[in-house]
Amino acid sequence: MSKYQLKKSSIYIDGTDIPYNKLGIKDSKFLHTLEKKLLDASYAKFTQELNTNPILNETYFINLHKKTFESLYDFAGVYRDVNMSKGDSQFCLAQYLHSESARIFKELEDENYLSDIKKKTLFAKRLAYYQGELIALHPFYELNGRVIRLFCDMLALKNGYKPIDYSGAIDNGAYIEASIECVQYANSSRLERIIFEGLRES
Ligand SMILES: Nc1ncnc2c1ncn2[C@@H]1O[C@H](COP(=O)(O)OP(=O)(O)OP(=O)(O)O)[C@@H](O)[C@H]1O
Ligand SMILES: [Mg+2]
Repeated sequence: MSKYQLKKSSIYIDGTDIPYNKLGIKDSKFLHTLEKKLLDASYAKFTQELNTNPILNETYFINLHKKTFESLYDFAGVYRDVNMSKGDSQFCLAQYLHSESARIFKELEDENYLSDIKKKTLFAKRLAYYQGELIALHPFYELNGRVIRLFCDMLALKNGYKPIDYSGAIDNGAYIEASIECVQYANSSRLERIIFEGLRES
């Protein structure tokens, strides 16, 4: 474990929760603003690119992280090789990360990327299942939440919905509570309600 601690702390500037970044930014507020700009730019770019009918597979998912944040972080698009947890939640062990990720994306492929689902209730249920699996996977060192939601928004857009509005649930803590249920109890029903509430047909 000490080896992992050492490696994990190496992505953060000593004694802070600010990741080392290519611009040498040490102000977390400024870094957050910049991350938001990069993410907004990616929403525009990847929304536009949906016209070319990309397959929303694992490579696509990794590429969302890479393309969004590679100007800022060396770890963009790179799966972690350390174990990580938040609060009492242990995310997927690093040794199983690649096989678990392959399993999740194979299931999504087998389900035709949700394109056969006609009902909003069922779409929300299945999307919550996959989002919960990715939350428990927590494949990257940082920015998992935002990239997982970006990926799910691309799935929503591709299937005739608008990007999902999580704002209320993120602000009042319900999103974290729902994440905890996914990670600790493999239960995505709470996340399903949040997604259903925030889902609108386009
Ligand atoms: N205690 C917890 N138990 C389970 N999952 C958690 C916990 N805290 C956070 N998470 C999940 O981890 C995600 C945050 O991961 P990470 O910090 O890598 O991404 P982020 O994009 O920086 O975060 P955020 O989603 O807050 O914008 C959250 O969105 C949530 O799904
Ligand atoms: Mg974070």
